[in-house]
Amino acid sequence: MNNLSSNELVLVQNVSKFFGKKGNIVTALQNVTISVSQSENLALVGETGSGKTTLGRITCGLEKQSKGKVLLLGKEINEYKKNNLWKVTQYIHQDPYGAINPLETVREILERPLRFLLAIKNSEERNELLREAIVSSGLDVSYLDKKGSDLSGGEKQRILIARAFIVKPKYVVVDEPTTMIDFIHRDEIIETLRAMGNSFGATLLLITHDIMVVPKIANKVAVLQTGKIIEYGETMEVLKSPYHPYTAFLAAINPQKLLGNKKIMDYLDNYGQNKTKIIGTDHGCSYAPLCPLADSHCRENVPPLMEASSNHYVTCFKPGQFNF
Ligand SMILES: Nc1ncnc2c1ncn2[C@@H]1O[C@H](COP(=O)(O)OP(=O)(O)OP(=O)(O)O)[C@@H](O)[C@H]1O
Ligand SMILES: [Mg+2]
Repeated sequence: MNNLSSNELVLVQNVSKFFGKKGNIVTALQNVTISVSQSENLALVGETGSGKTTLGRITCGLEKQSKGKVLLLGKEINEYKKNNLWKVTQYIHQDPYGAINPLETVREILERPLRFLLAIKNSEERNELLREAIVSSGLDVSYLDKKGSDLSGGEKQRILIARAFIVKPKYVVVDEPTTMIDFIHRDEIIETLRAMGNSFGATLLLITHDIMVVPKIANKVAVLQTGKIIEYGETMEVLKSPYHPYTAFLAAINPQKLLGNKKIMDYLDNYGQNKTKIIGTDHGCSYAPLCPLADSHCRENVPPLMEASSNHYVTCFKPGQFNF
């Protein structure tokens, strides 16, 4: 991941993030390096607490890294004035209920960035942008007069999507867009995001637990575990031929494969009971305590993120040897 392309949008270099105070420090990210290009959508997957939201927020300037460097279009992200930053990057919040004011109308919610961020004085021009954003988000214009309190979870999610894209940003971080949406409508939200990314010219960083939605929207995927990127590459390549045992495990957890597959169910059980062992390991591969392939070399040496095949990176000394 060091031969970075010229159409690079975001570059995260050796970034670590610590929360809390001395004596009670949480390491949310450990020495993460990754880039996002303008021509591709990237997905971040990993279980709860693995650092996805923290990394997503750092890449759009909502959170400051403790160590390392973040460049947006070649410039240090912390040097941007906030108003200039929000024209380029937007973040769609994990919780649509908390992010929408129930007392405001959709028009007020969507107009604010047009008035105060883009300073568009002409009301006809604002109306045109409002219509374009609401319709592209999958709702009709009558929604502009509804209040936040009158919207379902899925409709709130679409308003957040419209509010992010209305400023025509170059980069949108979407945090768990389908958590509040029932299974049947998940694909619709993902398709809306994909289509809006295309038509508004924005690159997406999709954060999700749900590895199954990744191929529908992202050409690249990075797998996070305990604040580290353990695998990165082209989505289909990573999902079809995962190199890290943990990615193989994530890719195997889908309803069709789970039913009646004792090997995955046993692995899942064992993982649930023992996963605390992989936190805070400071020597050897942190996944070794859970890995069926781990030997003394794995337990004594920390595997760096290595290019195991063309553009497919992994932190594993035995890439691709574990399969379900
Ligand atoms: N503001 C904060 N203060 C203290 N600790 C935090 C803060 N934000 C995140 N953390 C901790 O950092 C780690 C990573 O959290 P993060 O929210 O990035 O994970 P996540 O992968 O997005 O999880 P989820 O899938 O549950 O949303 C966790 O251990 C979390 O408790
Ligand atoms: Mg999160």
